[in-house]
This record gives sequence, C-alpha cells and structure tokens, in this order.
Amino acid sequence: MTMPATVRLYEVGPRDGLQNEKTVVPTEVKVKLIGLLADAGLTKIEATSFVSPKWVPQMADNADVMAALPAREGVVYPVLTPNMKGLDAALAAGAREVAIFGAASESFSRKNINCGIAESLDRFRPVAEKARAEGVSVRGYISCVVGCPYEGEIAPRAVAEITQALLQMGCYEISLGDTIGVGTPRSLNAMLDAVLAVAPVERLALHCHDTYGQALVNILTGLERGISVIDSSVAGLGGCPYAKGASGNVATEDVLYLLKGLGLETGVDLDKLVEAAWYIADFLGRPPTSKVAVAMGK
Ligand code: HMG
Ligand code: MG
Repeated sequence: MTMPATVRLYEVGPRDGLQNEKTVVPTEVKVKLIGLLADAGLTKIEATSFVSPKWVPQMADNADVMAALPAREGVVYPVLTPNMKGLDAALAAGAREVAIFGAASESFSRKNINCGIAESLDRFRPVAEKARAEGVSVRGYISCVVGCPYEGEIAPRAVAEITQALLQMGCYEISLGDTIGVGTPRSLNAMLDAVLAVAPVERLALHCHDTYGQALVNILTGLERGISVIDSSVAGLGGCPYAKGASGNVATEDVLYLLKGLGLETGVDLDKLVEAAWYIADFLGRPPTSKVAVAMGK
C-alpha cells in the first residue's frame, strides 16, 4: 500500500482537548480558537459535545458555542452526540455533522457512557438513523482500539466487530482511537489487519494520543497502511476524562510537520496553526505540549 497523496486533518482540540481542562474555558475563547483553526485551513473542527453537563461540565456551553461559530465556506463543525437527547440538542443548535462514540472495551464503555458495548450500539442505532434522515453526516468513534486503562490489551477482533456495526449504521467514517496512547506500530498493525479485513481503508481515520510518545510513529504506520484521515488536537490539548493518564492528544502541529516532510498535502498553514496553538496555550498559562509549536515559538 502506498501512502495517500492528500491527508485530511480532523481537528479535535476544542472538544477532546478542552473537555479535559480543569478550568472551564469561556465560550468566547473557544470560539476565537475555532476561528484561528479555520483561518489555518482546517476544514473539520470538532466544536463541542452534547453530553451530560454533570459528566463533562467543560462542554456545558455547547449551544452557545454552536451559535457563535464562524461561518466559513467548506468548514464543518462536528459535535459528539451519545444519545437521542444529545442528538436533538445538536440538531436544534444547527449541527450538520455528529459523532457517536463507542469503545472496544466493555469497562471503558461503562465508565465513559454508562452502558456496555451492546447497549451502546442499541442506543447509537436510532441516533444515526435520525441524523441521517435529517441529512446530517454521522461519524463513528471507537475508543481503546489497542489498549484499555481498565482491561489492558484489547483483541483486534473486538475492534473489527464494532467497526462493522458502526458502518452498518451508516457512519461515513470510523475513527480508531488509541485513547491512552499505549499502542506501538506492532499492536497498531495487528489491529489494522483485523479492521481492514472488514472495512475499506477510505472509511477509516486514526485518533492517536501521545501519552507514551508513540503517536507520530503510529500515525506513520497508519499512513503506510493507506489511512488518509488523521485526528489531532492543536497544542496537544487534551485527553479523555474517563481514561486516567490519557493526557495528550497528538498535536496537530506535530502531525502537520510530519505530513509536510513526507510531501503529503493537507491545505493547512503551519505558521497560522502554531499561532492558534500559542493563543490557547497562553490562555491556559502553559506552553503547548507540541514540540513543533515550542520549536517555532510565538
Ligand atoms: P446517563 O446518566 O446514563 O444518562 O448518562 P441518563 O439517560 O440516565 O440520564 C441521566 C441524566 O443525564 C438526566 O438528567 C438526563 O437528562 C441527562 P437528570 O434527569 O438527572 O437531570 N442527560 C443529558 N444531558 C445533556 N445531554 C445529553 C444527556 N443525556 C442524558 N446528551 C451519558 C449517559 C452518555 C449522557 C453520560 O454518560 C455522558 O454524558 N458521558 C460523557 C461522555 C463523554 O463526553 N466522554 C468524553 C468524550 S469521548 C472521548 O473523549 C474519546 C474520543 O476522543 C476517542 C478516543 O480518544 O478514544 C471520542
Ligand atoms: Mg480522544
């Protein structure tokens, strides 16, 4: 398999990143960040999530964020919707793309969305059906595709089964999440062997966390398998509140630097992206975890 010539970066910072901050970031700062990311040329920017504010208070301003999003030609702002209540609120707020999010680990599923895998799929099915009936695209996430903070190693077969289930629901794309960043090219490849046996590579995205410093090499592994959509988070913000130690989504700047070096097209401007990284880092009062943003400076 040769590497794709063009790669789409799917930005998760405003959601996956900011959901994990101890302090709740004000709506206007989130919206300014999203605008800077769109200015940099990102075309998929996950803006917020329609989850319970008791579980994730950082995303409680979801409708306010949606109402203030910069209208940009060609930019889509997906949001997370775990259930019908979330979908209805997202639709009312004007969402044009939503994401359902499951896990390949039973324990993680319960900790994250308060139900097991089978029940989560039963909940997602009507959500995906209604969204699609409204002309709204549906993305599917699978967390813990190689390892789980509660169960350890995850069987590749489990990931392939959930991939199939989500594709059958009509998800246009499945994002494979190494939620706690424990994967290495060997475990990634074993998981991808199983998933690629049931899903076309054009329908897959990779969502790496850099907890153990393996994200870029894992992304390179995915590119070499033909994956052309990479999730990443500006300034390396984030993690998942229900995965202890999952700090550190791979930084968008670091991924972009790699892609540029490989000669792969993204349409994203590195200087402007680094500007966005420093904007949010300065607000949070700490430097970006991205090596590239630190090396390039403000
Ligand atoms: P639950 O408690 O089982 O839900 O939560 P419930 O249906 O029993 O309802 C309980 C209460 O929550 C009720 O309110 C509902 O109205 C309310 P009350 O009567 O007690 O006042 N509620 C909601 N409120 C707002 N929006 C909603 C909603 N649903 C119910 N959509 C639920 C189930 C899934 C909602 C909950 O577990 C939850 O919100 N979990 C948070 C999950 C989350 O956001 N996790 C982080 C994102 S996933 C991630 O980061 C991983 C990813 O990046 C990939 C990777 O890295 O692996 C995607
Ligand atoms: Mg994540």
